Amino acid sequence: MPLANGFLAPEQFDDEYFFELKPAFCENCLTFQIIEQPNPEKMFHDSYAFFSRTSKYMVKHFQDYAEWAMASYFESDRPFVVEIGSNDGVMLENFANKGIKHLGIEPSANVAKEAQKYGVNTIVEFFNAELANRIIAEHGQADAILAANVMCHIPNLHSIAEAVDKLLKLKGVLIFEDPYLGDMIEKTSYDQIYDEHVYIFSAHSVINIFKLYGLELIDVKPQITHGGSMRYVFARQGQRSVSVAVAKQLTYERNQGLHLAPTFEQFRKNCEQSRERLVDLLNKEKAVGHRVVGYAATSKSTTVLNYCAIGSELIEFISDTTPIKQGKYSPGAHIPVRPYAMFTNNYPDAALLFAWNHKKEIMEKETAFTQKGGQWLTYVDV
Ligand code: TYD
Repeated sequence: MPLANGFLAPEQFDDEYFFELKPAFCENCLTFQIIEQPNPEKMFHDSYAFFSRTSKYMVKHFQDYAEWAMASYFESDRPFVVEIGSNDGVMLENFANKGIKHLGIEPSANVAKEAQKYGVNTIVEFFNAELANRIIAEHGQADAILAANVMCHIPNLHSIAEAVDKLLKLKGVLIFEDPYLGDMIEKTSYDQIYDEHVYIFSAHSVINIFKLYGLELIDVKPQITHGGSMRYVFARQGQRSVSVAVAKQLTYERNQGLHLAPTFEQFRKNCEQSRERLVDLLNKEKAVGHRVVGYAATSKSTTVLNYCAIGSELIEFISDTTPIKQGKYSPGAHIPVRPYAMFTNNYPDAALLFAWNHKKEIMEKETAFTQKGGQWLTYVDV
């Protein structure tokens, strides 16, 4: 597999980086993860292509996340909140706007620069224990450490947990959300598996890692974002009461077999069937002379296109609203990525919905395409 966000120019085709994307399930810590991950500097750098603000629903989601965190867990008069992987500041701006002391930590300089435009204090670094010490020296310990779609990107969770253990106040909370294993298994949404997603977490697996650092899972909250995510809340052992939602989620996971290896053998078979169906669908469109365009050059689409060996013979181009991706080619499959206007100015017969997780928002926006008889093709039912 190539890098999921490694959109490239033709002169870079010859040097494109590939690695073996091999998922695995650990029967010991119950974690679903990829075995080999590229060096983080290859993925998170000064031309990182993912900006959180590209969806208006996500902007609202982060506003709600921030307000819920403030209402539920802020006890001190002058709280201090830290976000790991703060991207373009879409979450922290909600704290900044209220004058709340905050600090974003973001290794990709280009997205961090965007955050500064929104008045979000950001430092361009990877989060670790050494940085936690510097933050404490300058700002003191944190009331809340937040993350969204970041924790699952970090190979060395021990280093994060150690840093969290240093930075968090006695009554502080660590809150993070990531794509949820239960949803991936239920929907066969194997496109969650790519270089940046080292882990697809379950409640069982996050408990096993953070308990090693004296942190206890005190609440879980399912989210619809990213095709089904879970928000986890941790506190220092015994410092806060544990919601009944935690035991309920653990029961659900055992009923789904998320703690058992054969579940993932079945998942493999389901992925293979999904691949056959999609390739078949696209071949049929081609056979009747239809134009098919990809809708949104998501990270997830890189896994789908490369796993199914789909290229520009089946998909004319991928339409995307992110300027940094436009004019480039999709990783591995080398399908051109074009501005959104190319889609609206000359509707294709069919659009393959790569941003299926934003289906509601996209269907609302694309009524004209649908009304003119445009077909939506999909490989994940939502
Ligand atoms: P997302 O599902 O968040 O991506 P990922 O799989 O990378 O996590 O989708 C973000 C991408 O989708 C981004 O490149 C912008 C694009 N997009 C559109 O082009 N149009 C849209 O209406 C939406 C919602 C996203």
